Amino acid sequence: MDKSKRKAIIAGNWKMNKTPAEAKVLLEEILPVAKDADCEVIACVPFVDLSVALEVTKDSNVKIGAENCHWAESGAFTGEISAKMLAEMGVPYVVLGHSERRQYFGETDETVNKRTKAALAAGLKPILCVGELLWERECNITEEVIARQIKLDLFDISAEDVLKTVIAYEPVWAIGTGKTATAEQAEEVCAFIRATLAKLYGQDVADAVTIQYGGSMNDSNAVELLSKTNVDGGLIGGASLVAEKFGAIIDAATKG
Ligand code: PGA
Repeated sequence: MDKSKRKAIIAGNWKMNKTPAEAKVLLEEILPVAKDADCEVIACVPFVDLSVALEVTKDSNVKIGAENCHWAESGAFTGEISAKMLAEMGVPYVVLGHSERRQYFGETDETVNKRTKAALAAGLKPILCVGELLWERECNITEEVIARQIKLDLFDISAEDVLKTVIAYEPVWAIGTGKTATAEQAEEVCAFIRATLAKLYGQDVADAVTIQYGGSMNDSNAVELLSKTNVDGGLIGGASLVAEKFGAIIDAATKG
């Protein structure tokens, strides 16, 4: 399918950066660099920044996302935030299964699957992250790892819901390391993700799903990465905290 028929999405993942006051300043800088985008632009921000972020972006083309959500609607889960809470605030997107959650906070494919189902049930659009460790790539099991994550993380999720889901391919060895996957490596795995989705849901669904690349994407490598057939956008950490760099990546997506 023609790539231009899929929604290109450039999303910032702010991680644990920016206080609410700082978030306001950064978003006010992002609005002008994003305003002519012909891709979707999202800023995924810390929970405490969501209110101000929704307020600052309310009349703009910049959408807001959270960085995680719990699978239960409510209950004894100290420190967690439910999908329903985010939905009620008017947050449209949520990042799930980020490798930092898997690595430092014990997230498993099972909990990622539960969180994804809860997000979808609450009407949120998940940005589901998958990716292999360096060791797994060196052992030549990247495809096995990715196929397993896709199957488990999307277990029991309907085609209709998968169409509301964005997949982010984030090789763990490329995140925050300055080591970007080459455009060929990114394309290879994004194409593999699409082929895996085709096996599970059929080609039409697979062709319609937005697949992002993430991992040290920046203003200098974005054009090449985003030119690849199966790379429909980016999930950007470090470079999304500098409006000028984030704007250059948005422009790169706009150019296709
Ligand atoms: P990075 O982070 O762009 O800083 O490598 C990407 C991510 O973790 O989503």
